Amino acid sequence: MKIRSVRGTHDLFGDEINKYNSIKNIVSQNAKLNNYLELQTPIFEFTELFSKPLGEHSDVVLKEMYTFKDRSEDLLTLRPEYTTPMIRAAITNNLLNDLPLKIYGLGPMFRRERPQKGRYRQFNQINFEIFGSNDFIADLELISLGNDILKTILPLSDLELNINFLGSRNNLKKYKSTLSKYFKENVSKLSDESKSKIDLNPLRILDSKNDKDIQVSNSSPKITSSLSEEDKNNYEQIKEGLKSNKIHFVENFNLVRGLDYYCGIVFEFKTKNLGSQDTVLGGGRYDGLIKTLGGPDISGIGWAAGVERISMLMNKIENKQNHVHLAITDEKFKKYLIEVTNKLREEKIPYYWDYKYNLKKSLSRASSNNAQYIILIGENEFNNNFVTIKNLSSSEQYEIKSSNITNFLNDQIR
Ligand code: HAM
Repeated sequence: MKIRSVRGTHDLFGDEINKYNSIKNIVSQNAKLNNYLELQTPIFEFTELFSKPLGEHSDVVLKEMYTFKDRSEDLLTLRPEYTTPMIRAAITNNLLNDLPLKIYGLGPMFRRERPQKGRYRQFNQINFEIFGSNDFIADLELISLGNDILKTILPLSDLELNINFLGSRNNLKKYKSTLSKYFKENVSKLSDESKSKIDLNPLRILDSKNDKDIQVSNSSPKITSSLSEEDKNNYEQIKEGLKSNKIHFVENFNLVRGLDYYCGIVFEFKTKNLGSQDTVLGGGRYDGLIKTLGGPDISGIGWAAGVERISMLMNKIENKQNHVHLAITDEKFKKYLIEVTNKLREEKIPYYWDYKYNLKKSLSRASSNNAQYIILIGENEFNNNFVTIKNLSSSEQYEIKSSNITNFLNDQIR
């Protein structure tokens, strides 16, 4: 029996796991620097946590959730995103007493999408959220943090920040009906998929990738025309703040995001190097969501970035570990070998041995693993209680007394 991996999932090893770990380190350093608390939530939750808040007409809920009944008939879903579980966890654990709450997490999400480059069914997200502040400074701080993290990991990338402002929930309601009216007038020019969204989810027609839809959307009423004075002022302050933080951005009036809970500012960092899955980081404000989920009536803002998409834009990471390999020429020297490896472990000197009593094979493995030193144990070494240590890059060789091995390597390596 040969078991395959599930479509849209992938295993991480070699360069991929090096990149994953490097991203994770940079994220936790930045989180500490900015005083974000780490919060990990379970990978499954009750389905109702997602179905309503993400939008009963959103793609994620309609087509992409991994939902199942467990043995007690509870309807459960593998988390497709992190924002709603974070809110649930903050409410469950009484973390909303001391506001604002700044939290972050990194972990796997699950969406049953059609797999393609940069799009998986299990993928990892970095997620940052601020609960309990409606000050535009919080918006600015979060976008700047996303920018800092991406710039640290991808200093030479072509990432461009796109922003839009959806306004308050009421404003958005009004704008949706203006849009529905406009799309109804132009229904014959729309794709079939967009036709089905006119009444239920007209905002999503704006970010359709279909050429016919793009043409119609280009002349649609713009959200900025329906913003209140307060919203306009807020948006201007965010833009001014981005300029003074020297973060380049473009305004994209078709940017509406795929989940239903957004209002206020929405933003995405996009690249031209990933084909159609071009968004690396996306987020926005979601006032009202925390209340919908049973919490207090406080506002929230956050973003999530796809680890796999970031990883695809990164250069290879050299594994700089100083490897010491062992080469033993005969089984007779096993006891001596155990003594030597004990010393290495006590001193925390990483070593590798291929369990072969064959000098040629061990040397060839050492060279393919880019080892720097090889410790050789043969007849002469065993009889006289020393080892031969060879520096593989300079080819220099040293005869080192058994009691002196770790001192010698410590001097050389560190
Ligand atoms: P999202 O736009 O659905 O937002 O996902 C955020 C990021 O996750 C995307 O920009 C992308 O990098 C990555 N991503 C999404 N789906 C996939 C996939 N199938 N394969 C690989 N990567 C993927 C959210 O999830 C919101 N919860 C973000 C947020 C946080 N808004 C406020 N707070």
